[in-house]
Amino acid sequence: MQWIETRAGVRMPRMIYGTAWKKERTAALVYAAVKAGFRGIDTACQPKHYHEAGVGEALKRLFDEGMARDELYIQTKFTPLEGHDPKRIPYDPKAPLHVQVAQSYEVSKHNLGIERIDALVLHSPLFPYRDLLEVWRAMESLEGVGQLGISNCYDPPLLQRLYSDARIKPAVVQNRFYDQSGYDAALRQWCDTNGVLYQSFWSLTANPHLLASDAVQEAARLRGVSPAQIFYAFLIAQGITPLNGTTSEAHMRDDLGVFEIALTFKEMEEIGGLLGG
Ligand SMILES: NC(=O)c1ccc[n+]([C@@H]2O[C@H](COP(=O)([O-])OP(=O)(O)OC[C@H]3O[C@@H](n4cnc5c(N)ncnc54)[C@H](OP(=O)(O)O)[C@@H]3O)[C@@H](O)[C@H]2O)c1
Repeated sequence: MQWIETRAGVRMPRMIYGTAWKKERTAALVYAAVKAGFRGIDTACQPKHYHEAGVGEALKRLFDEGMARDELYIQTKFTPLEGHDPKRIPYDPKAPLHVQVAQSYEVSKHNLGIERIDALVLHSPLFPYRDLLEVWRAMESLEGVGQLGISNCYDPPLLQRLYSDARIKPAVVQNRFYDQSGYDAALRQWCDTNGVLYQSFWSLTANPHLLASDAVQEAARLRGVSPAQIFYAFLIAQGITPLNGTTSEAHMRDDLGVFEIALTFKEMEEIGGLLGG
């Protein structure tokens, strides 16, 4: 696995295993992903989509087998109220925002069975902006968090405003990588020049047309690898950290192999050209 050191001094793997929608299979799949070579895990304190305690079960098994906490990068999220199933909110919905953040963080640490979280990501911006800032201030005040991030933030001026007001600057942005946002071209450029790392999700799911493109197909054919592997290699070469939610052990192995793929300048240009902009 390749790693990058973020602006917060946190070591982050260049591909992260995603745990959404895995329900009771979460523990076994996280365990398998780490055994295959993944070292980063993305989850959320959002029972509607993530079984965070299942991640904790896998971690316990790995730690019991001798894996050290420092060998893993563990990232979770604080999900604002509207992102929750009303019947399964992991904090007091009537409490002030900063209390909701603190309660959610405690639940995450309990679910994961760890005292230190490498990254806490705000799952989506809140409106009005003062609510967003209150949540961010609360995230800044937590003990034991390596770095902060924000997700589903597609508006460069909003990200810039948060960056400017933050005492602890966002170190990562986690966004859906898709055509409708123009692949976040302007936002990613701003991130590049301001030391914010971009994590992508829906990288494969949202882009079957890119996987089917001549450029990706030809690069795959030449190397005897899959279009998915080429696309991950392209993203990583762009400086993007893809989240990968595969449930297949064969895909886990294939996808970890993408660090061996060196795309040519021409291939990078051709695939990059398909993103428009
Ligand atoms: N912040 C947010 O709001 C948010 C939203 C969505 C997701 N996420 C995070 O992102 C993670 C990833 O989710 P995603 O939606 O982005 O999923 P994804 O990784 O883009 O897509 C997973 C799909 O790609 C397939 N796949 C993976 N590797 C492949 C390969 N080498 N060849 C062919 N198919 C392959 C998987 O099938 P197989 O299972 O058969 O391999 C699966 O159907 C989530 O688990 C979650 O952690 C965050």
